[in-house]
Amino acid sequence: MGVGPWVGDWPQDDRLDPELLRDGDRRNVVDAYRYWTVEAIRADLDTRRHPLHVVIENWKHDLNIGSVVRTANAFNVAAVHVVGRRRWNRRGAMVTDRYLHVEHHPDVDDLVAWAQADGVPLWGVDNVAGSVPLETARLPRSCALVLGQEGTGLSDEAVAACGTTLAIGQFGSTRSINAGAAAAIAMHAWVRLHAGHS
Ligand SMILES: C[S@@+](CC[C@H](N)C(=O)[O-])C[C@H]1O[C@@H](n2cnc3c(N)ncnc32)[C@H](O)[C@@H]1O
Repeated sequence: MGVGPWVGDWPQDDRLDPELLRDGDRRNVVDAYRYWTVEAIRADLDTRRHPLHVVIENWKHDLNIGSVVRTANAFNVAAVHVVGRRRWNRRGAMVTDRYLHVEHHPDVDDLVAWAQADGVPLWGVDNVAGSVPLETARLPRSCALVLGQEGTGLSDEAVAACGTTLAIGQFGSTRSINAGAAAAIAMHAWVRLHAGHS
């Protein structure tokens, strides 16, 4: 995967990393960012982030957060917000957390304070009583999708903080799907409505 050492005249571009030019770039990045420094990629992504935030509760070191961060990077969301424990397992993120903003909130009250200050409506994602189908929901362009963690799902405080909560349709025998998979489906529902239509 990737490209080998740079061939030809040495490029004069501050965004390019001399070590990657010398040794080759084997990272999992799109071709447009080959040889770019992490800082330059992040700064470029900052110029065109979507007004979508993703929130996940982390009361018990949820292993899905890495996967959520990786998908959030792919869809270039504004930020991922971790509520609860600050530390989370980075393995599933495959270093994508270096390219986006990951904010921490010690509790739901702190999340709500941020959302109100920035004018970002909180939309829950869980199959709790009163949830409406994600498939037919009209998600606003600017919003935060709030996911719960494996086992417990969204906390009561988080459900109460969300104006609407969305359920992903299921047709098999299991009660719920993996939180990382649910986050990807919910983010893509937003993408289908709003990405490329700014
Ligand atoms: C494994 S679920 C656990 C909780 C779930 N309320 C239950 O009844 O089992 C973990 C998280 O994944 C997301 N999730 C899983 N299945 C979902 C579905 N069908 N609709 C919406 N969110 C879902 C939610 O964010 C949920 O908090």
